[in-house]
Amino acid sequence: MTLPAASFDYRQRRVAEPFLVATAPPMQAVLTAAKRIAAGHLKVLITGESGVGKDLVARYIHTQSPRAQAPFVAVNCAGLSETLLESELFGHVRGSFTGAHRDKVGRLQMANHGTVFLDEVGEMSPRMQALLLRFLENGEIQQVGSDSIVTRADVRVVAATNRDLGRMVLDGQFREDLLYRIKVAHLHVPPLRERREDIPALVEHAIGRLGSSCAITPDAMQVLQRYPWPGNVRELQNVVEQVISVADQPHVSVNDLPRALVASALGTVTRSRERRRQIADDLYQSLISGEYDFWNHVQTLFLNRDITRHDLRETVRRGLRSTGGSYRRLLTLFHVQRTDYKRLLNFLAAHDCRVDFREFRFGEAAAGTTAD
Ligand SMILES: Nc1ncnc2c1ncn2[C@@H]1O[C@H](COP(=O)(O)OP(=O)(O)O)[C@@H](O)[C@H]1O
Ligand SMILES: [Mg+2]
Repeated sequence: MTLPAASFDYRQRRVAEPFLVATAPPMQAVLTAAKRIAAGHLKVLITGESGVGKDLVARYIHTQSPRAQAPFVAVNCAGLSETLLESELFGHVRGSFTGAHRDKVGRLQMANHGTVFLDEVGEMSPRMQALLLRFLENGEIQQVGSDSIVTRADVRVVAATNRDLGRMVLDGQFREDLLYRIKVAHLHVPPLRERREDIPALVEHAIGRLGSSCAITPDAMQVLQRYPWPGNVRELQNVVEQVISVADQPHVSVNDLPRALVASALGTVTRSRERRRQIADDLYQSLISGEYDFWNHVQTLFLNRDITRHDLRETVRRGLRSTGGSYRRLLTLFHVQRTDYKRLLNFLAAHDCRVDFREFRFGEAAAGTTAD
């Protein structure tokens, strides 16, 4: 094994609090939960599709935590081979392998008293999973090539993944005991298509970052707000960058947007999955804005078969994601009367749309919590 040419300096002291757009209720809910979780010492697992902002949320947790003055050290578990990752995390002693000319402090040690961010934790090999588990159980660090044990480090672990680790456990690809260890608290960052209110501010932010003063016409903004953004905020940033670089006028109109994006946004090439998502999005938006009444509109649409069971279930799921799994707060969110609590639960149960609230609980062990 040889070391890559570039030397690492992943240590960043006093990371600045990241700027996070959070206009949409589901994103505000994530930040509120993140802040609450940050104050404690629990290990956190951040889930969500690629490009939704998991890195930013991890940094946010660190800056809001009592460890904010100590280092924040990020490790991408997917970027390095197993042996390199082991040496990066735990360090190595001189001569332990070809190219190890000096002793090297591992990043867990560098993060002492601070936070280590294990990005793409689902990509860890079985052996690395076992090594990480051992560290989480006893806080001991054994450097590669060192028999004499051991240093200790006090670090808070924040991990992120875009994989379904529960599924990976079932498939025997991820250790259940490790999942249990890293997911003491859980934050799910919703995809951009489930929080379209964030899009205008994200577009403005992306333009500002480029130092441009281009303005987006309302029509073009509407298209951007309709597009489903499979690559989430990262894709949005790329599109803005591309559009700004070719637009030579101060205004960006629909004609300046990539053709495929416009076609997709206007539904000309909507695939059925996207259409279904769009229906749930629209229902959700109409409910939270108070434009739709649950009983008069949603129930009626459902009973008339204008929307499917899947649409209804997805809408409920969106709501629970915003309320952190609380059906009681779902009443407020959907403008349903408090006295209709039982009625709502019974209606959803009768049509097999009563989604398990435990998927959405932040920071609590699922066992022992009850529905409310
Ligand atoms: N809420 C947000 N506000 C501002 N920028 C964001 C937000 N979410 C994501 N970004 C930006 O989008 C890009 C992708 O975010 P990142 O945290 O790397 O996503 P992930 O880790 O989930 O793949 C980054 O450049 C990040 O700064
Ligand atoms: Mg990331």
